[in-house]
Amino acid sequence: MALVTSTEMFRKAYAGGYAIGAFNVNNMEIVQGITEAAREVNAPLILQVSKGARAYANHTYLVKLVEAAVIECPNIPIVLHLDHGPDFETCKSCIDGGFTSVMIDASSKPLAENIAITRQVVEYAHDHGVVVEAELGALAGIEDDVKVSAEESHYTHPDEVEEFVTKTGCDSLAIAIGTSHGAYKFTAAQCTRNEKGELVPPPLRFDILEEVSRRLPGFPIVLHGSSSVPQEYVKMINENGGRMPDAVGIPEEQLRQAARMSVCKINIDSDLRLAMTGTIRQFMAEHPDKFDPREYLKPARENIKQLVKHKLVEVLGCDGKA
Ligand code: G3H
Ligand code: 13P
Ligand code: ZN
Repeated sequence: MALVTSTEMFRKAYAGGYAIGAFNVNNMEIVQGITEAAREVNAPLILQVSKGARAYANHTYLVKLVEAAVIECPNIPIVLHLDHGPDFETCKSCIDGGFTSVMIDASSKPLAENIAITRQVVEYAHDHGVVVEAELGALAGIEDDVKVSAEESHYTHPDEVEEFVTKTGCDSLAIAIGTSHGAYKFTAAQCTRNEKGELVPPPLRFDILEEVSRRLPGFPIVLHGSSSVPQEYVKMINENGGRMPDAVGIPEEQLRQAARMSVCKINIDSDLRLAMTGTIRQFMAEHPDKFDPREYLKPARENIKQLVKHKLVEVLGCDGKA
């Protein structure tokens, strides 16, 4: 199967009450870990590349790695998506360069400007058979090129979504309902603590999601900043020379609930980073004599695979839907 767009994936996910996992890729081991997991549980997949990933690994290397995964996984549909496209030129370069989906993220701009830029990307993308994700509302945290402080972040205003989707013609819409990018999604002051002393974040704003879905029936919604920040990996990092105090993510049950509603795409990057870093830190601490990168990248890839499998089956509910 060649690379596909997300149109059919989202249609089935919406109707079936599950979501597609969109995982960020930066190198071969990450691509392999994610795609081996999806192949084993027969799940459709979105592999996404940020501006930072293109700067790190080079556009061509990333496209070829994803094309290799398509050859190795002939039975699962895979989308190659630009994550947080900052401008028309970057989106155009990805559309011309083999991507099947792009995000234009003009969410930090005033509404009229966001609409105008998104419309321009949609026209070019649709002419080339590529689909477009846009964003309304601002998530806190660090996005590629878009750094939004907690004070500047704001929830999506449901009363803007119909006009935005109608005027832009976008194919899916990322909204802000309380998720946030990175491994520190909330300050300790915003959270309570459970009996183990772990931080418990404020719940997602399902009321906003419901209102958006009521205004856009059948339209696929996207959640960014949806890592759950597994405490086992935070602990592994901290016990092996790292320092990540009070890292906290979005509880998995809330993501599952969103997936049962209109959310068709859930973005996960930080959890992969934590699994990779924790595994490598532990390996280094336990084997100070080893220096062959394959020896520490192999268990890191395996732990990414297990983490992604868990997400596909237990959080997204998209196993068996390829
Ligand atoms: O939303 C941001 C993603 O986690 C990508 O991060 O820009 O560091 O590649 P990055
Ligand atoms: P996390 O930082 O929660 O993994 O979010 C990733 C993301 O939204 C990529 O666009
Ligand atoms: Zn994001």
